[in-house]
Amino acid sequence: MRVHAKFLLSATDAAQFPVPGPPEIAFIGRSNVGKSSVLNSLVGEKIARTSSTPGRTRTINFFEIRRPGQPSADFVFADLPGYGYARVPREMMADWPLFIEPYLTQRGPLALCVALIDANVPPQENDRQMVDWLRHNQRSFLVVATKSDRLSGNKLPQALRRLRDELQVDSPLPYSARTGAGRDELWQGIRKACARQNETLAG
Ligand code: GTP
Ligand code: MG
Repeated sequence: MRVHAKFLLSATDAAQFPVPGPPEIAFIGRSNVGKSSVLNSLVGEKIARTSSTPGRTRTINFFEIRRPGQPSADFVFADLPGYGYARVPREMMADWPLFIEPYLTQRGPLALCVALIDANVPPQENDRQMVDWLRHNQRSFLVVATKSDRLSGNKLPQALRRLRDELQVDSPLPYSARTGAGRDELWQGIRKACARQNETLAG
């Protein structure tokens, strides 16, 4: 899918969140898992900053996504700060209850959480906690296994099976921001979740 993306704003406080508009998609996961890279690969533009140093994204960054020919935004993407990386300063974790958790629990337009987990390492305790937390809060989510280009042969199917078994998720989606693998499937999941949200709002 071809889209136009525009940076909207950065928030470190619930009062700074954008005025509720079109359905939102949040990208969440451990620091360095590839959240900003997946967002960029979906929109086909380096609009979100990425870095090999964990902890790059420190604010919730909102982007308006518009399909060509549409008069206004179809979706809003929210690139979130990561969690749980050993080298990420402790004070960053203190941000969670301030604005990240309120966003994920209270945000009306939030239609889908894209929960990213590194395909190259076994799922970590905090990945499990994230999935449990999303279930507990009844948020729609899709598990995406990132950096799949680094796994060859039967290593990728093995990693996906492990995610399925250990996190009890139906079909984790393998993704590579480097090659674009999984891009069409993730867009499909996003469109489906947004259509569901629009139907619910229409009553
Ligand atoms: P924080 O904002 O720090 O939480 O990180 P993030 O989750 O946004 O990760 P980011 O997109 O900044 O990527 C982290 C590192 O992983 C960068 O060095 C990327 O180049 C690399 N990376 C991201 N996606 C892929 C991928 O699909 N394949 C490979 N091989 N590397 C990737
Ligand atoms: Mg980031």
